[in-house]
Amino acid sequence: MEKIVINGPSILNGSVKISGMKNAAVAVVFATIAVNDECIIDNLPNISDINLALKILEKMGAVVEKIDENKYKIDTRPISTIMAPDEDVGKMRASYYIAGASLARFGVCKVGLPGGCDFGSRPIDQHVKAFEAMGAKVKIDEGYIDASVVGGMKAANVYFDCVTVGGTINAILASVRSEGVTVIDNAAREPHIVDLANFLNFCGADITGAGTDTIKIKGNKQLHGCEYTLIPDMIEAGTFMIAAAATGSELMIENVIPKHLESMTSKLSETGIVFEEGDESLLVKRKTTELRPINIKTLPYPGFPTDMNPQTAVLLCCINGSSRINETIFNDRFRYVNELKRMGANIDVDNGIATIVGGQRLRAANVRAVDLRAGAAMILAGLVAEGSTSIEDIFYIERGYDNIVEKLSSIGASIKKVQIQDFS
Ligand code: EPU
Repeated sequence: MEKIVINGPSILNGSVKISGMKNAAVAVVFATIAVNDECIIDNLPNISDINLALKILEKMGAVVEKIDENKYKIDTRPISTIMAPDEDVGKMRASYYIAGASLARFGVCKVGLPGGCDFGSRPIDQHVKAFEAMGAKVKIDEGYIDASVVGGMKAANVYFDCVTVGGTINAILASVRSEGVTVIDNAAREPHIVDLANFLNFCGADITGAGTDTIKIKGNKQLHGCEYTLIPDMIEAGTFMIAAAATGSELMIENVIPKHLESMTSKLSETGIVFEEGDESLLVKRKTTELRPINIKTLPYPGFPTDMNPQTAVLLCCINGSSRINETIFNDRFRYVNELKRMGANIDVDNGIATIVGGQRLRAANVRAVDLRAGAAMILAGLVAEGSTSIEDIFYIERGYDNIVEKLSSIGASIKKVQIQDFS
């Protein structure tokens, strides 16, 4: 086992290149099951969730070939089972996309319930509602999503009772080969939903409205493979934005779509941080004035992302005065707060709202990554704290950040991975 050790405080400089988006990549990789052909996917991030997704496809019979570090050829034609390996699907959230994709292709699925980060209850009732609207009989039984439909999935009108990224993706996947037009209302609008729709359209699907709250899918049984390049990861970019802002550094963030970052740049500008947008880059300028505290509410896209809640808390710890983060998506997202308190943070959480009184320098400490984004926040805290911070349970961080230690080290951070001695 390894841990990350950071010697802070750090000043960052130079430029960093953002990798492909995790949450688009997991959707597109599992969507290849529905496509039933050979696809070449480029800009896949080198993270453990993608390695696991590719392993699951291989175990189901797909032929997966690495073309280069971030480019894979995936041929799902040989898949003849709907059984995904239980020991693997429980390790990631996105494995439930196998359900939508298998229903589209085989009219049946049996997939173990997904794992992923623990932010409290993460129900899948809206996924089930969409599958049922399309004619499937669904049982959630003994840890499985067990569903089947006679004569293929039917076009339907699906109205989501809450805005759900996973539910929207599963509804698109399940309907992509059905006859007729499926309409999803109150759909999620995240860039990764647009990316999945673009990928499927390259494969011959007819999906319109992705990126708005009404998506129409005209089913097509004859999908074909394609070559597709994934969009860059806005949350990885946001994490580097905070790294620069919290350490008072100037940093060029390359390979981004600035439009996707606007929910973060507009809000964070209220602190006084200055951003300069290029065509495919964002410059975070070195701070020249004292930053101001702000109040943030997490919301579905284009609101401020819940996946930036923990990292932003670190920035707010560095700003004099009282800031607030109101978390409206996940009821247990503040599990990182106890770890930040070990580093001297003054944070009080009440009823889904964290009040952060910032201004005193964080202290180095031994902390844990309690989930993926919480782990990223611990790295950021280690960059601003004085002394040597060590972070355990870094497998969470490796699920979603491509070479984060190497990237930070290349822009001036004193950060490394070290082996933890096993005394057992
Ligand atoms: N919800 C329901 N019923 C459902 C589905 C969702 O009540 O059937 C609720 C959830 O409990 C939550 C809200 O709806 O309160 C939003 O959940 P959503 O379905 O949008 O989340 P998700 O699909 O499980 C994805 C990302 C998360 C990200 C959220 C919100 C993937 C694989 N995961 O999760 O990413 O936080 O959307 O944007 O795409 C991460 O990357 O660190 C991560 C956790």
